[in-house]
Amino acid sequence: MPAMSKKTADSNRVLSLANGYWASCALHAAVRLGIMPRLADSPADKEELCRELGLDDRGAAILLTALLNLKLIVLEQDSYSLPEELREFFIPGGEKDLSQVVLHMADLVSVWARLDQAVKTGSPLSRQKNAAHDKPGREHFYKAMAALAQRNAPGLAAGLGLRPGQMLLDLAGGPGIYALTFCREVPGLKARVYDLPQAGIFFKEQVAALDAPLPVEFEPGDFKKNDLGGPYDVVWLSHALHGASFEECRALVTKIAQALKPGGVLWVQDFAADPLGKGHPHNALFGLNMLVNTKGGKAYSASEILGFMEKAGFEQREYVGPAGGEKENPNLLFKGVKP
Ligand SMILES: C[S@@+](CC[C@H](N)C(=O)[O-])C[C@H]1O[C@@H](n2cnc3c(N)ncnc32)[C@H](O)[C@@H]1O
Repeated sequence: MPAMSKKTADSNRVLSLANGYWASCALHAAVRLGIMPRLADSPADKEELCRELGLDDRGAAILLTALLNLKLIVLEQDSYSLPEELREFFIPGGEKDLSQVVLHMADLVSVWARLDQAVKTGSPLSRQKNAAHDKPGREHFYKAMAALAQRNAPGLAAGLGLRPGQMLLDLAGGPGIYALTFCREVPGLKARVYDLPQAGIFFKEQVAALDAPLPVEFEPGDFKKNDLGGPYDVVWLSHALHGASFEECRALVTKIAQALKPGGVLWVQDFAADPLGKGHPHNALFGLNMLVNTKGGKAYSASEILGFMEKAGFEQREYVGPAGGEKENPNLLFKGVKP
């Protein structure tokens, strides 16, 4: 068979980007309809899936064929199941469950579909049509944050230099996975998770699932309006700047400086984008996610993040690298020390 020409490969790249959402939507539907959790439990044939999940025979046949060709499911005799290596990502409530992330991404499709409007107006798309702000949408959002943090948080504490006896503020900590993981890994470290009151219920769920209690409390508050408390030895600010405008970021980082002890450390983790195109494509695309969903947020660049620290008076400001030191990890770490 002749090799594909460069022209064909180039045009294929454009075509795959044009229809890439088909695969995303197939996965979204498979999770929304309960196909993936059902198959994570045990194999089933099409008739069983239709009966148990209330699916139309033709619709199910077409979706199952798509999932099969995407290698998201396998078929043996007449029975569908999940490939062994993917099963744990769809076990509801399991340690590696990614279904809430899939559901959150599915909630965002309707606003992403109108991205061109957001680029023209610079404004987020209407909240009524944005499922992330309704009740199930909010649950998917916080549970997705928890699932993503569960993948990234383990093993980070040592590299952050966290020590027993320190008091850490997990600012905009949401369900509190980072604070809980850090305190589990560093006995003697104490932490406060600070977030909007609506996040409290998701923090409580995480605490209820612990094997043993950890010295982590939840403080409801709005970092734009309220005091942060303190003084703290360390502030961990993960994925909060990208939701705020440039001015709000400046004000927040200044507020953090005031809440830290002298010599205290601010760690920022974010999906920083590279405006010169040499960064992780995920992070640049994440900027678009902020464009369609927030009034002033974006994926700030490394120099903007370090600039917020400089303006707030932090010294020894540095870009440390991807969390965990893995090149592919889009979670980038920045550090600043209060003089
Ligand atoms: C993308 S999530 C990040 C959660 C967590 N830090 C992490 O990295 O997984 C952003 C968090 O900021 C919180 N947040 C947004 N605006 C806030 C505000 N004005 N005050 C306090 N928290 C806020 C949200 O409730 C949410 O938990």
